[in-house]
Amino acid sequence: MPNVLYINNAAELITVKGYSDIPAKKAAMSEIGIIKNGSVLSKGGKIIAVGTDEEIRKEHQDLIDQAEIVDATGRIVTPGLVDPHTHIVYAGTRENEYAMRLDGKAYMDIMNAGGGIHATTRATQQATSAELYEQSKNRLDKMLLNGITTIEAKSGYGLTTEHELKQLEVAKKLNKDHQIDLISTFMGAHAVPMDYKDNPEVFVDIVINEMLPVVAEKNLAVFNDVFCERGVFTPEQSRRILEAGKKHGLKPKIHADEIEPYGGSETAAEVNAISADHLLRASDKGIQMMAENDVIGVLLPGTAFFLMAEYAEARKMIDSGMAVALSTDANPGSSPTLSLQFIMNLGCLEMGMNPKEVITATTINAAHAIDAADRIGSIEVGKDADFTMFDVKNHLMLSYQYGMNHAHTVVKKGKVVVA
Ligand code: NIG
Ligand code: FE
Repeated sequence: MPNVLYINNAAELITVKGYSDIPAKKAAMSEIGIIKNGSVLSKGGKIIAVGTDEEIRKEHQDLIDQAEIVDATGRIVTPGLVDPHTHIVYAGTRENEYAMRLDGKAYMDIMNAGGGIHATTRATQQATSAELYEQSKNRLDKMLLNGITTIEAKSGYGLTTEHELKQLEVAKKLNKDHQIDLISTFMGAHAVPMDYKDNPEVFVDIVINEMLPVVAEKNLAVFNDVFCERGVFTPEQSRRILEAGKKHGLKPKIHADEIEPYGGSETAAEVNAISADHLLRASDKGIQMMAENDVIGVLLPGTAFFLMAEYAEARKMIDSGMAVALSTDANPGSSPTLSLQFIMNLGCLEMGMNPKEVITATTINAAHAIDAADRIGSIEVGKDADFTMFDVKNHLMLSYQYGMNHAHTVVKKGKVVVA
């Protein structure tokens, strides 16, 4: 029997429909397509009908008779959450640096002294593939319990060809084995290794001439990302790396203007990046250029929260016409969270987004940020049957009761994976 699943009678079925071709912008970010007492039917992992119980039964009573039924009475159902920016494959933790920051040390100073990204790089280089796999799988399990069904996963804690490949191979295996889908990004330009501190251009050449070709040849990544920040990679170096990636078919992404305005947003627009991420200190000119060039702003308020920094100006970006997505930035240094629901809370309370916009930002717009909106991010006929059922009676409750996990049931490709 084919796998047939019927989710019946959700208090609110939130479809986020109508934005599979172009991300939702401005007022459209608040149009989340709520069906009251909504139901959805899937077969073989794909959605085949969306509507009320009455509407669907008229056409598909026979299939419903064979279906596994999930009763959603009194709860809401959304598309499976999409987390479009994570550094999930790493070894070790950095709670010691957290304590140092609480004593007043700056994040970038810790990194420049050989800690920060370098500390996680050492731990990741030392870890075997099996250890890296186990530690990362544990985090994915928790993400799934939190209602996340697809993530983007970056390399960037290897920083040599051998260890970047190791990280990407682990992500590939996790994608195969785990219910969560992982879409990989190569981020060899995550930091300048301590050995190249005085010759960063030499490392840029290694990324371009040594790492990128083999990552592309082995088909290990879809995107290419750079940490464009003072003391890390300049806008010029970032542009070189991202343009080189394009020649290998890797789409550009960029960590831009996280700590200070440094031209990363402008660079994102110039290289036609699919997304620019962080943007805590993006300039007005950068925002305008990104809006004009359809660069999606992937905002990571967990990082501002955890680094005790100013938040990105989400309201200004949305009002300027940028499509905005939200993500955890899950990593051991600047955002050790696995909860996209907490990120939604921060989007509302710290960045001026409304409860509907944060749902769009973690579903269809997040899917666009990883070029997967043709498959996931909304509840529409033909798309993957990825759903999260939350134990709340309406969508406002999701970002109102904060700091808790409301996910109750998670469905991936038509199969109940969390019940
Ligand atoms: O996105 N900004 C650069 N990279 C990560 C942090 C990585 C780390 O501290 O380990 C980020 O915030
Ligand atoms: Fe990041």
